[in-house]
Amino acid sequence: MNNQAATLWKKATNELLKVELQTHHPFRYVALNTHSDFPECRWVVTRAINDNYHFLFYTDSRAPKVRQILENEKVGITCYHPELKLQIRIKGLAQVIQSGPLFEQHLAVAKNHPTDYTSIHAPGTELAGPAVHKEDLDFSLICVMPIAFDVLLLNSGGHLRAQYKYAKDEWTGFLVTP
Ligand SMILES: Cc1cc2nc3c(=O)[nH]c(=O)nc-3n(C[C@H](O)[C@H](O)[C@H](O)COP(=O)(O)O)c2cc1C
Repeated sequence: MNNQAATLWKKATNELLKVELQTHHPFRYVALNTHSDFPECRWVVTRAINDNYHFLFYTDSRAPKVRQILENEKVGITCYHPELKLQIRIKGLAQVIQSGPLFEQHLAVAKNHPTDYTSIHAPGTELAGPAVHKEDLDFSLICVMPIAFDVLLLNSGGHLRAQYKYAKDEWTGFLVTP
């Protein structure tokens, strides 16, 4: 990787690793893109990002995004840091997790906000009145494993953009025209 591409990689990934420590970090909310008959894009809360930049999100198991991921694991994530003027676009492979130790750990957290996962009807169902809730949670984790990054740093002196991909256990990248 050339110097500028390596510096931009460090800047981008350092910000990703801050998200868990800083509640108000701008990447706490990201746009998650899935496929349906049209592209589907929505805000989600980033619950965790691990050392390999795997993202973890919470959702209702019956949400359309879950079905879309089960049909097509290829997803996109877009993050923007307004102060740094830093955009990160990620291509990744998503997995829906509904059992196991990681699931149980996060289910315990999700139980603090049960109305997010307990509506009687699935998210997106037409309602005649206010949503009614039940006891049990329809809770799923979505884990996204990035395979490619596109990083853009806006700068009045000249924008900087680079693309990176993960292969053979390492990230490599190069500058591209912004
Ligand atoms: C700021 C913000 C944060 C959100 N966080 C989540 C989230 O973490 N998980 C989630 O399933 N939906 C979240 N939503 C709601 C989604 O954007 C979306 O409306 C909902 O999940 C239905 O999406 P779907 O029909 O594509 O599955 C959030 C919405 C906003 C505005």
